[in-house]
Amino acid sequence: MVCLGNICRSPLAEGILKSKVNASKVFVDSAGTGHWHVGDEPDQRSIAVGKKHNIDITNQRGRQFTVKDFEDFDLIYVMDNSNKENVLALAENDFQKEKVKLILDEIFPDENVDVPDPYFGGNSGFEKVFKMLDEACEEIAGRL
Ligand code: 4NP
Repeated sequence: MVCLGNICRSPLAEGILKSKVNASKVFVDSAGTGHWHVGDEPDQRSIAVGKKHNIDITNQRGRQFTVKDFEDFDLIYVMDNSNKENVLALAENDFQKEKVKLILDEIFPDENVDVPDPYFGGNSGFEKVFKMLDEACEEIAGRL
């Protein structure tokens, strides 16, 4: 699960998908394309909305997406088109590029919908993001 800062959207996506899959079969992680929040805990508003839905993300720490992630993961879900561009720019071949998917394509195929960045908004943005990610992760978990 990849976003820009790895403190708002992708930690929620990681926590939500983890809650829906068998941890012994599916390894889920998240990262940001930016470096600003490496080592940081998730944004307090993401922690709060997760907690409200019984998803604890407090043990997550920010890390930056690296080219090695293309080897370590079969699927790379990005939150928006800008994340997609940043991740694709690091890909070394078509096999790696094909791993990269816009997460909301899972529920709105071919509509090219972004998970909006809630960082500069209020709490309601985080609730909306949670809902979108929960629906998308339900679809992903069902398929996995
Ligand atoms: P995220 O949100 O990509 O959903 O984690 C952001 C968090 C921090 C920043 C940007 C986006 N930032 O510029 O610090």
